[in-house]
Amino acid sequence: MTARVAIVTGGTRGIGKAISIALKNAGRKVAANYSGNDDAAKAFTAETGIPHYKFDVSNFKACQEAVAKIVADLGPIEILVNNAGITRDGTIHKMDLDQWQAVIDTNLGSCFNMCRAVIDGMRHKSFGRIVNIGSINGQMGQYGQVNYAAAKSGIHGFTKALAQEGAAKGVTVNAIAPGYVDTDMVRAVPPAVLEKIIARIPVGRLGHAEDVARGVLFLTADDADFITGSTLSINGGQHMY
Ligand code: CAA
Repeated sequence: MTARVAIVTGGTRGIGKAISIALKNAGRKVAANYSGNDDAAKAFTAETGIPHYKFDVSNFKACQEAVAKIVADLGPIEILVNNAGITRDGTIHKMDLDQWQAVIDTNLGSCFNMCRAVIDGMRHKSFGRIVNIGSINGQMGQYGQVNYAAAKSGIHGFTKALAQEGAAKGVTVNAIAPGYVDTDMVRAVPPAVLEKIIARIPVGRLGHAEDVARGVLFLTADDADFITGSTLSINGGQHMY
């Protein structure tokens, strides 16, 4: 069987990088998206051999064009991992509209933009695996993150709705809700705050990006066809939902 083609958004750094590598090692043809850090993307491709594609997932038209290019380069998309995400933390009384809009557009708008770009092809093939990366903070909220918690919580609702639409067409749609994973994003949390958060993780450590990638492999397997609309929490026991 020909290798299935996968797109991982935000796939050259952090959790996305681990997902891209895991999918490649599982025999998938992977396209890794990124939007900002050219040096990291070049280093990622040099290290892994996985091609990178630069486009802004919050831009509908850019997603349409990029998906068309990836289909031309690699073939029809069968696996989509919506992983790209940003934080613009701050309490609401200090948050400006740009902080709100950027997080909603990049973290949640991207799921619509990317799913809209691949869904016709998946329905046509009667096969698709979509995994949306939510967050523990979308499940339980987080001080200083009304924007991020709203976007991630939205991802969980989006997942359940699209799962219902995809079910009859062989397209499964699931979410993963990672807890605090050792990435640049989490390391940007003020050290004193992070220390308190780690103290509340029963497993006693931050997650590794590979812990999340393992969940993606499970949910995107060909024989995972009865798992849809679910949320897999990978958080070291910090929140049991
Ligand atoms: N609960 C209650 N009160 C809190 C609090 C909390 N979790 N965190 C801070 N406070 C209080 C502080 O104690 C302080 O009170 P006092 O003035 O009485 O001492 C007050 O709020 C202000 O705190 P800061 O000095 O930290 O305020 P700030 O405006 O400089 O920063 C903040 C606020 C930006 C929210 C900062 O606290 C912060 O960055 N917090 C971390 C937020 C976080 O966890 N983000 C997750 C990023 S990683 C991620 O999102 C990935 C994922 O999916 C898990």
